[in-house]
Amino acid sequence: MDYKGNILAISGSLRSGSSNHNILRFLGGLTPADINYFIYDKLADIPPFDPGLDHEHPPTAVAELRELIKNVSGIIICTPEYAFGVPGQLKNTLDWMVSSGSLVDKPVALVTASSVGSHAHAALLLILGALSAKVIDGATLLIPFIRSKIDGNGNITDQKTEKMLRDVIDVFLKEI
Ligand SMILES: Cc1cc2nc3c(=O)[nH]c(=O)nc-3n(C[C@H](O)[C@H](O)[C@H](O)COP(=O)(O)O)c2cc1C
Repeated sequence: MDYKGNILAISGSLRSGSSNHNILRFLGGLTPADINYFIYDKLADIPPFDPGLDHEHPPTAVAELRELIKNVSGIIICTPEYAFGVPGQLKNTLDWMVSSGSLVDKPVALVTASSVGSHAHAALLLILGALSAKVIDGATLLIPFIRSKIDGNGNITDQKTEKMLRDVIDVFLKEI
């Protein structure tokens, strides 16, 4: 499969009905038809990071994700903050991507949608820097008070937020 022009979207929340997942769906709806935009649904399958298993033949789910990332032209991460930090499973997954260099120079957009979210957002920018990802200027967005900006059906109800998300995807699409 030719993944050129493909975008991998990763939600830091595993919750069914997650606001972050719904934001990724919204962003997917804004991408042109010739771009294959897909939301990663295997985050829960990534095992705990073990440096002893972190080699050319890691656990299957890790190997598959590394291969997926290798073949996409950009990644969008959308995540909440938990306990003033990055959700554990997202951080765990990113830890598996360090030695493989999977994110080196990979265009990344980052949206943190949470009650507050500033700690996770700042931490993720540092982490993505450590991974040498190409975090796109203008494609990072912190959305506080997310639960008041999205309805029960996952629709974004706050116009300013919707506009900012449109700007994020516009900038990102120009970079990939
Ligand atoms: C265990 C837990 C810890 C949380 N800690 C924080 C926090 O430190 N900062 C924050 O902004 N929101 C925090 N929240 C609230 C989440 O940001 C909020 O529930 C958000 O909507 C979750 O994203 P989701 O709808 O995509 O699942 C926490 C939620 C949970 C379940």
